[in-house]
Amino acid sequence: MLEVSKLSAGYGAIPILHGISLAIGEGESVGILGHNGMGKTTLLRTLIGALRATGGTVRLNGQDITRYAPHARARLGMAYVPQGREIFPALSVMDNLRMGLVKTGERDLRSIDALLEDFPRLKSLLDRAGGSLSGGEQQLLALARALAGKPTLLLLDEPTEGIQPSIIEEIAHTLALLRERMKLAIVLVEQNLEFIAAVSERVVVIKRGQIGGEVPREHLGDLQIMSQYTGVHG
Ligand SMILES: Nc1ncnc2c1ncn2[C@@H]1O[C@H](COP(=O)(O)OP(=O)(O)OP(=O)(O)O)[C@@H](O)[C@H]1O
Ligand SMILES: [Mg+2]
Repeated sequence: MLEVSKLSAGYGAIPILHGISLAIGEGESVGILGHNGMGKTTLLRTLIGALRATGGTVRLNGQDITRYAPHARARLGMAYVPQGREIFPALSVMDNLRMGLVKTGERDLRSIDALLEDFPRLKSLLDRAGGSLSGGEQQLLALARALAGKPTLLLLDEPTEGIQPSIIEEIAHTLALLRERMKLAIVLVEQNLEFIAAVSERVVVIKRGQIGGEVPREHLGDLQIMSQYTGVHG
């Protein structure tokens, strides 16, 4: 469904991504591993259209979306949870969820009640300010908000960063559930080896703005071998 071909992007005159090619099938979950500063966030920002591609193409279900604005991509079914989550700290949890509904424009929406069925932990937090939640709760909120527009492709940037293990497990469980039910494809950027192995069918490694190889499927669960491929220690 997503075809990325020779994609390049950067900041000002500084190139960061150097010809990334990647294909993701409908409902497929692909992990992207890489050290700090290798271009993971830059890749996701280019895929969602927050950053302009300087070369190459992005196609979604055959349609060339390389020049589309983020809201147009959202309407076509892409959702993005940025690194650091970026919820609205002063707004209540409920209003944060409502913002998720607004952002997706004309698309057929899930109701907030339906959303909360998949995020039971948020039910008792609806009146709290987003900024008063724990990091893990904020991540769940950001994820729920991203799913309000029933996306078919979810881009996740380091969802486990700074989060306690019990909520990491909850997020992995929720993602597995949603993938099954919504046929959701996922591009997951992570440095947590255990989480990426649990959530992804396939893991590629990004090095200095290029795809530096793929971890063979049989090695996904083996943290020691994974860390040798990637130089990332889980
Ligand atoms: N707004 C910006 N302006 C200029 N350079 C930037 C900007 N954002 C990122 N960079 C640079 O681009 C490179 C890739 O950054 P990016 O954020 O994509 O890395 P990352 O793999 O997501 O790292 P991390 O694991 O720390 O999140 C880095 O050298 C970074 O300093
Ligand atoms: Mg990053």
